[in-house]
Amino acid sequence: MASRINPSILAADFVNLESELNRIADADLVHVDVMDNHFVPNLTFGRQMVQRIQDVSPIPLDVHLMIEDADRWAPSYAETGAFSVTFHAEAAAEPVALARRLREIGARAGIALKPGTDAEPYLDLLPEFDQVLVMTVEPGFGGQSFMHETMPKLARVRQAADASGLDLWLQVDGGVTLDTIGIAAENGADTFVAGSSVFKAGEPAEQIALLRERAAAHAH
Ligand code: DX5
Ligand code: ZN
Repeated sequence: MASRINPSILAADFVNLESELNRIADADLVHVDVMDNHFVPNLTFGRQMVQRIQDVSPIPLDVHLMIEDADRWAPSYAETGAFSVTFHAEAAAEPVALARRLREIGARAGIALKPGTDAEPYLDLLPEFDQVLVMTVEPGFGGQSFMHETMPKLARVRQAADASGLDLWLQVDGGVTLDTIGIAAENGADTFVAGSSVFKAGEPAEQIALLRERAAAHAH
C-alpha cells in the first residue's frame, strides 16, 4: 500500500504561502484546513484563498473543511479544482447526497470523524466515499498531541473497507510525527497529514521523505 504524506499549511507562514507551497513540492498533496470559527473555535480562510492556493500550488489540494453547514458550502470548494474535499460527518445533514455532488463536480469525496464520533453509523456508506479522515486530535488547532485512543476506530474503518474490497484512502490528521506515524500505519492509515512536524522541521523535503519511509515500514 502506498503511503501518502500531505503537509498541512496551517503550520506554514501565511504571508509567504507561495514559497511555503514550493518547499513541500515533494509531498503527495497539500492539506488545506478551512475553519469557520463556528464548527471549530478558530478561523483560517475561505474559498477565495483556496482558489489562489489551487492556482499556484505545485501539488494537488486536499481540502479539509472544518465548517458548519457543509451541505451548502462544500461544493464550492470542489469547484476550485481541488483534488479532494473532506467535510465533517458532524456538520453534514445529508452526507451521501453531498459526497455524490462532490464526485459529480470532479473531486474525491472525503468524510471526517472527530475523535468522539463513532464510525459504526458510517461504515455502510463507505462506497460513497473516496477517503475517510479519522481525526487524531480535536479539530481546530495545529501542534496538539496525537490521541492514541482513536486507533481502534481507525482499525475498524480499515477492516470494513478491506472486507468490502474498497479502494478507500484512510487518512489521519493531528499530532502525526516520526514517533506516531508508525502506529497510525499499523492501524490501517495510508494517508498522513502532518503540519508542525513538516513545517517546523529545518528541511521540509527531508522530513517528508523520513515520514514516508517510516509509514512504509509500518504499512498495514
Ligand atoms: C487541525 C487540522 C490539522 C492540523 C494538524 O484541526 O485539521 O490539519 O494542521 O497539525 P499538526 O500536524 O501540527 O498536529
Ligand atoms: Zn486538517
